[in-house]
Amino acid sequence: MAMQDWTVQPQEARSGGQGSVAFVVHNKSGAAGALKRMHPETAKEKERRFRFYSEVGALKAMDGHGVPLVIESNEECFSDKCAELYLVMERIEGSNISDFISKHGNIELTDALIIINRVLEIVEEGHRLEIFHRDLKPDNIMLRGDDVSDPVIVDYGMSWNKPAHQEQNYKTPGGKELGNRFLRLPEYAPNGIHRDSRSDLTMLIGILFYLLVGKAPRWLVSELGLAPHDHLDAEMPEKLKNDERWLRLRSVFNIGFQHRIEMRFQTSEELRLKLKQVCADPPEPKGDEFMKELAAFREKIETIEAQRRQALVETMISASSALEISLRTAFEGEGFSVKGFKSNSRSGGTVVVFTIQIGDNKSGRQSGLFEHSMETDFINVQTSYRVDFGPKYDGMLGQTADFENFQRNIISGKEILMAAILRTIAV
Ligand SMILES: Nc1ncnc2c1ncn2[C@@H]1O[C@H](COP(=O)(O)OP(=O)(O)OP(=O)(O)O)[C@@H](O)[C@H]1O
Ligand SMILES: [Mg+2]
Repeated sequence: MAMQDWTVQPQEARSGGQGSVAFVVHNKSGAAGALKRMHPETAKEKERRFRFYSEVGALKAMDGHGVPLVIESNEECFSDKCAELYLVMERIEGSNISDFISKHGNIELTDALIIINRVLEIVEEGHRLEIFHRDLKPDNIMLRGDDVSDPVIVDYGMSWNKPAHQEQNYKTPGGKELGNRFLRLPEYAPNGIHRDSRSDLTMLIGILFYLLVGKAPRWLVSELGLAPHDHLDAEMPEKLKNDERWLRLRSVFNIGFQHRIEMRFQTSEELRLKLKQVCADPPEPKGDEFMKELAAFREKIETIEAQRRQALVETMISASSALEISLRTAFEGEGFSVKGFKSNSRSGGTVVVFTIQIGDNKSGRQSGLFEHSMETDFINVQTSYRVDFGPKYDGMLGQTADFENFQRNIISGKEILMAAILRTIAV
């Protein structure tokens, strides 16, 4: 058993970041195989050699379950730097997803879901064996016989697998960035979370996106704060947007592309269920306004932007309450009695209002009803006040991006408001 027992076929070898893959036939039996070798320039690097060892270990553990079978390999020689490492694996006839999409263009939702559901099963089996692929992308998924129902995952060269690490007691350096440019995940930053099944699930959502749109999602959040399906909205095929399953598909992207890992799909079961719901019949017959509104509402609150806005509304309510309490405490400290309504939001959360009225215990006189508002267009925040529903006076202006500073300013400017309230007693 040696690499020399195999003859490289004239077909062009595929060369990637880790190594090269060539088609080979066995000199005696004529059996077909795919030979993976390391690039000569990096073949002596300890970490790369361990990755090769780990890749073969992962393939062996998966035992042909949606991955190429291992025919022969010398991966156990990985610590002997003089040995040239090689792997001969089952040859998968067919294209990888990148080549398939280049050849055929984007594919239909039904076929895309067939691919993703099967890839999910394979990934899940890996997770069961404590193998995280960590480099799922269109180049690393092949379609056997170009058949959408038979995807095969290749390239476990970036994978982490517990058995390999335990056997060799090898520590992969955590201070490096992981992943690929197809879809960068925040948790793959240096010293991030590098062994998490949720990251593989996220990459699967990226592949679903690629199958339908023909573009790499690249980032979970664009510079405008948008997820790929909103950022690349113009690239979405019209046919897909007109599909009756479109809104339910958006839900998959809304959740799957969340920036924070704990807000994405947490388990493969969760993702499988959501994928199933994409094709389920709509819940109610046409004309059901409530269900339509409910779906639109859900869809809205799932978006990053909506969450950002919701967080801002909550921040405004707490800042407004802090101001109100601080006014109340200051007046009570000076012997005034204080009445009023606590901060609450109006106009869908864009305005937060409280009212306050003070009374002078000695003279029995009361101030006007002082109403304080904080209003936002989600970029700026403006405070204003009015007395007894009279004309509005502008208070402070700040930016939502620096709410912290704005809140400090409104609290430190409370004396101006107190003076304004007090003046309304005198008249
Ligand atoms: N068993 C196989 N049978 C047929 N083709 C294969 C097989 N394994 C890989 N390939 C093809 O070779 C390409 C490169 O393989 P692989 O991804 O394992 O190498 P790599 O050097 O790690 O690549 P990269 O670093 O670019 O991800 C794949 O994209 C796929 O098209
Ligand atoms: Mg690859």
